[in-house]
Amino acid sequence: MRTTMGWQAAGPARALRRAPLERRDLRPDDLAVRVDYCGVCHTDLHAVDGRDGAADALLVPGHEFTGVVTATGAEVTRFAAGDPVAVGNIVDSCGACAMCRGGQENFCHAFPTLTYGGTDRHDGSATLGAFSREYVVRDRFAYPLPAGLDPAAAAPLLCAGITVWEPLRALGVGPRTRVAVAGLGGLGHLAVKLAVALGAETTVVSRSPDKAEDARRLGAHGFVVSCDPERMAAARDRFDVVIDTISAPHDLGPYLGLVAMDGTLSHLGHLGPVTVETTDLLVGRKKLSSAGSGGRPATAAMLDFCAEHGITADIELLPSAQVNEALDRLRRNEVHYRFVLDMSDLD
Ligand SMILES: NC(=O)c1ccc[n+]([C@@H]2O[C@H](COP(=O)([O-])OP(=O)(O)OC[C@H]3O[C@@H](n4cnc5c(N)ncnc54)[C@H](OP(=O)(O)O)[C@@H]3O)[C@@H](O)[C@H]2O)c1
Ligand SMILES: [Zn+2]
Ligand SMILES: [Zn+2]
Repeated sequence: MRTTMGWQAAGPARALRRAPLERRDLRPDDLAVRVDYCGVCHTDLHAVDGRDGAADALLVPGHEFTGVVTATGAEVTRFAAGDPVAVGNIVDSCGACAMCRGGQENFCHAFPTLTYGGTDRHDGSATLGAFSREYVVRDRFAYPLPAGLDPAAAAPLLCAGITVWEPLRALGVGPRTRVAVAGLGGLGHLAVKLAVALGAETTVVSRSPDKAEDARRLGAHGFVVSCDPERMAAARDRFDVVIDTISAPHDLGPYLGLVAMDGTLSHLGHLGPVTVETTDLLVGRKKLSSAGSGGRPATAAMLDFCAEHGITADIELLPSAQVNEALDRLRRNEVHYRFVLDMSDLD
């Protein structure tokens, strides 16, 4: 085993604390990656806040990171020590099912191995995330980081970015599409940048009127305050695609109201049961969809697109020692628009 340092929740305490953790010895198709930058996703916050305390297993969050390869397994040919890489929220899949064969490893019928909180398919160990200085990952699930992308600001592309990219592409978003992005946070601000770069007419739907200026700066053409019923009514049936990234449970009715006839609400944010009034779908033949993460081909395509268009996240870079402050501010919606942790203070 290899020992590294990381930020972990253990026992009843909610705050993460710095402690050593173990990584597996490299298998023939593994890479060891020095984690330089890891984004703080709202999913990390759900994971920390959702713990049952002492009964829960060790939690090390972090599933969107960039770094440098430090060692490779005997069979690795795509990467060498020194290569800059990016890794997201999936680190393995069965490789044999129809989804994996079709390049949708994120939908693997045997369930993909999550970067943390998952179970390693080979040794059954619990996966520990990238709020740590080293990560060991199967080479298929590491991506070359394109030259020209800032490695700190690119880290959030690997969860927030790909999570919105796949549905934008799958729903055919392009020059004539009218897109609304609900919730202007980590996922939302990247959805705006990507939709705008794809040529879509893009509107932000937010409960925070003070984000209007940021929305414009990000390239959005319109801004609707979600808690203003008049503005919401005026935006009725206006969007071919609504990308919902809201992090809390909420009524889908008002957002389905924004969807144009035969359009789609892609519900990506808070996962869990939802109640839908069928007439909200019936009137206008509207579709309700969801998505999560991305397959390997889409992830590589998203990184290429971002390199070509100069797209990265708007980040606030913090030393990893401030991880608990970052989580607290994310809880209070005080982020513009992604915290990224600099892991070099773990040396
Ligand atoms: N499907 C997937 O695979 C996947 C992947 C990653 C993350 N997620 C989930 O996506 C969600 C968003 O993640 P994120 O990292 O983008 O979070 P975030 O940065 O905290 O952004 C969430 C945004 O949602 C809006 N919001 C928050 N609470 C709200 C409430 N009570 N009512 C209405 N709007 C509210 C806020 O935007 P405004 O201020 O503009 O209203 C906030 O900025 C999380 O639930 C996360 O777990 C899913
Ligand atoms: Zn995430
Ligand atoms: Zn599979």
